[in-house]
Amino acid sequence: MKKHIVVLTGAGISAESGIKTFRDADGLWNNHRIEDVATFEAFEKNQELVQEFYNLRRKELITVQPNAAHYALAKLEEQFKVSIITQNIDDLHERAGSASILHLHGELKKMHTVNNKNTLYDVAEDIIPFTKGLDGSDYRPHVVWFGEEVPLLEKAAMIMAEADIFILIGSSLQVYPAAGLIQMVGDEVPKYIIDKAIPPLSGYQNVIPLEMSATEGMEKIGEILSTEY
Ligand code: APR
Repeated sequence: MKKHIVVLTGAGISAESGIKTFRDADGLWNNHRIEDVATFEAFEKNQELVQEFYNLRRKELITVQPNAAHYALAKLEEQFKVSIITQNIDDLHERAGSASILHLHGELKKMHTVNNKNTLYDVAEDIIPFTKGLDGSDYRPHVVWFGEEVPLLEKAAMIMAEADIFILIGSSLQVYPAAGLIQMVGDEVPKYIIDKAIPPLSGYQNVIPLEMSATEGMEKIGEILSTEY
């Protein structure tokens, strides 16, 4: 029976692919304050700005590649059952070949209408502002905005509870409910934390901090897992 590795990733795993994180660039996304673009209120107030913001990020995504950390996670599937829960809306885990990926905060290359979050459509580049779907409401990015519910939270919590081994890569753990998912991992489960600046994790047991980049950390993890399991 393969051991089950559950991985929670954040923007830090995509940093070495050239995608800016949220809180390293003093909380600005392409010079926009998060509150000005990543909320439904912002979408209603200034749809052109919000659509443009995500159209720009979609175009950027086409120009970047997965990095060695994404590929190392995909490679772990040769020896382990691997479930990835990501806060990222990029498709770099998919492009690196990982098979089981849950996007907690949505996906940049998907869209739905305002009135129907369940029917998703692929979008390669731009969503033209005020384009309406069959239900007569506007298309919007399939992204969970601040203040919106996280539809896959329950499913993610169940996966976390199944972990034999847990790895956190590149998240500041500042955004809930995603950050609270770690509580679902068993006390006895080893929790490898890879981050250039390890976030506070008091109260958790079996924490093994690897204060380094995602690519260096995944190299280290490869060595540890091949000797210990
Ligand atoms: N290697 C490893 N870790 C890195 C690297 C790197 N090369 N570069 C940055 N980091 C770490 C930072 O130290 C930080 O802890 O990645 C983390 C990035 O944190 P955030 O920018 O807060 O990203 P994240 O935790 O994913 O944000 C969560 O917030 O804005 C919302 O919905 C958005 O999903 C996002 C959520």
